[in-house]
Amino acid sequence: MRVVSEKKPIVAILGGTGKEGPGLARRLSGAGYRIIIGSRKLEKAKKTAESINSEMGSSFVEGQLNGDAAKACNIAILTVVQSAHEPALQGLKNALKGKILVDATARVEFRNPYPPEPPSAPRIAQDILGEEVIVVGAFQNVPAHTLKKNIGKKLNTDVLVCADDIDAANTVIRMAKDMGMRAFYAGGLDNSIVVEGMTALLISINKYYGTKTASIGISGINID
Ligand SMILES: NC(=O)c1ccc[n+]([C@@H]2O[C@H](COP(=O)([O-])OP(=O)(O)OC[C@H]3O[C@@H](n4cnc5c(N)ncnc54)[C@H](OP(=O)(O)O)[C@@H]3O)[C@@H](O)[C@H]2O)c1
Repeated sequence: MRVVSEKKPIVAILGGTGKEGPGLARRLSGAGYRIIIGSRKLEKAKKTAESINSEMGSSFVEGQLNGDAAKACNIAILTVVQSAHEPALQGLKNALKGKILVDATARVEFRNPYPPEPPSAPRIAQDILGEEVIVVGAFQNVPAHTLKKNIGKKLNTDVLVCADDIDAANTVIRMAKDMGMRAFYAGGLDNSIVVEGMTALLISINKYYGTKTASIGISGINID
């Protein structure tokens, strides 16, 4: 039987009803985190949560409106479609006060994969949310297709974590590790522009080789 850990932070996944969000939710709930799926529509959030609980054989995931999910969590992960990045953050500014916001946004179009211009999405998020929220950039290179498979097993993908606050970065590194991935601190928020840009490379690789799971791996350093 799976057991939820009261010591682990409650994680809201804002825009968690799409492709990336449910994958992160499955892996975190599998690691004992309490999860709140956020959506613009309550019924949609609840439906996604129920479907993850049923797959995972647990009841650690609930669904709420994005604003309520943001208020109720300790850490929020933003996985709204990239075109909604700025408006979604504007609408969630008050609800996110006092929280860590993990920005997984990669502003790269599938049809035309070019690296975005600075500032990075997490830097834009930090500027919108202000100093009462700590923003961390992470998971931009972790494919939704990879997250879906082999729940409970280690993943062959690494996570680059960029933040100006090292304690917040280490919290997210622990979460990624709990999800079965190696994660590396990769510098401040502005470095996230490189991480976002790598998504353009990964989409191009996937298109050329007919795959959906190209991701990154760091060599030359041994960590667990
Ligand atoms: N897909 C991947 O493999 C992948 C990998 C790494 C990072 N990412 C990043 O993760 C984010 C989500 O990607 P995705 O593929 O999961 O996207 P998606 O499935 O297209 O959309 C995610 C969610 O965004 C919400 N949304 C749509 N329009 C919105 C709006 N105008 N305002 C607020 N919310 C809106 C929807 O939730 P509701 O309708 O329920 O509100 C939707 O379920 C993107 O920033 C992407 O760059 C994706």
